[in-house]
Amino acid sequence: MRDMKAADLRGILSYSIGFRDKIFVLNIDSAVLTSENFRNLLLDISVLRSLNIRIVLVHGASCLIEKLAQDTNTTASNLDGLGVTSPETLQLALLASSRLAHEILEGLNETDQRAAVTNAIIAHPAGIIHGIDQQMTGKVENVDVAFLERLLADGIIPVIPPLGFDGNGQTYRVNSDGVALEVSEALRAAKLMFVTTSNGVTEAGSPLSQLSVTEAEDYLKRHNTDLPPEMVSKLQHGLRACKNGVARVHIIDGRADEALLTEIFSNEGIGTMIYANEYEAIRRAKKKDAGAILSLIRTPVATEELVPRTRKEISERIGDFYIFEVDRNIVGCVGLRSYTMDADKVAELECLCVAESHENQGIGRKLMTFVEQRAKEMGHKRLFALSTQTFNYFVQKGGFKEGDITMLPAERKAKYEASGRRSKILLKDLA
Ligand code: ARG
Repeated sequence: MRDMKAADLRGILSYSIGFRDKIFVLNIDSAVLTSENFRNLLLDISVLRSLNIRIVLVHGASCLIEKLAQDTNTTASNLDGLGVTSPETLQLALLASSRLAHEILEGLNETDQRAAVTNAIIAHPAGIIHGIDQQMTGKVENVDVAFLERLLADGIIPVIPPLGFDGNGQTYRVNSDGVALEVSEALRAAKLMFVTTSNGVTEAGSPLSQLSVTEAEDYLKRHNTDLPPEMVSKLQHGLRACKNGVARVHIIDGRADEALLTEIFSNEGIGTMIYANEYEAIRRAKKKDAGAILSLIRTPVATEELVPRTRKEISERIGDFYIFEVDRNIVGCVGLRSYTMDADKVAELECLCVAESHENQGIGRKLMTFVEQRAKEMGHKRLFALSTQTFNYFVQKGGFKEGDITMLPAERKAKYEASGRRSKILLKDLA
């Protein structure tokens, strides 16, 4: 995480207020439970608790099952609870789960948190699938919501192992992604977080910070075969959760220090988020945004990338500005000013600016595309922009071409000459 500034607390505040009393279901992979960062993770969970976020911990067991199988010279029929679970493998799963649950209880106790291992998952045998008896593999039938809610109301963290109970003295091995999905739906959780061994997914090598439900579906279709099966499972389960009322699903690397807190309390997060609710938005600026615009442009004005503007100037033309928000936090702006030239309407794209903290996320380009669209709707024939230092950006990302001063409307031309900035003139025809 980049160095924290005191002002970041403002951003944190909006999240801590928004998340208060909400339920977060954390599905922790066994590889994370056995990693060095595990104790830090539990500490971070205490931070969440101190902000009155209600936590449910679901955990996996595959790594430990594998290890126990090696130690005892047995072969596990399946590790993740998605294939056939032989009776011997079930025994390993029971042992692994008890140990891991104990680790969790012990670690939480260290930070003074109360937790309880639960039998809230009601399951039935998965049965015979494609002619193969799945033996001790179970399918979640029901979640005892009343029980879990009761614990949560008392400030107790329910710990849910990857096991299901059939009510007749039989236990089945269930997959933890499936459990986390069912639990988050049943409890109407605000978040389902997969705390795993990677910070989500990438496209052509660059991390994908967030995906809408449609984008995630499309991504999954395209990468179904080249992603590791664990990741496919997280995406599939995450998508189902998002479609069934869980607003946000996150995939983060639980072995990285601070990953959990960074994801929850910063705008941009650290892993991949699938979101069903509003996350980013471009909207027209309002009078009360003038101050935010002013502080947004402070740095680029200081470096002479942008023309200085007073608060009064911004306020007077506030209707020409658009704002980019991430979770209601203003992180970018752009202006669109209309002129007439030889009876044609032309517009200037001005004051394009993105906060340093949110650079390199494509926000500038989104603002540019938005303004272009808006200018077309308003019947403008051409868009122009003046730039002293970022003209390459306009050419490469926006498809602008360099022009000259004769292409500016008279009023703007006069101002241009008076300013002495000698900006480059960039143009784009709006067909
Ligand atoms: N902190 C916010 C949340 O927890 C936003 C996280 C954004 N994360 C991301 N990977 N884009 O909902």
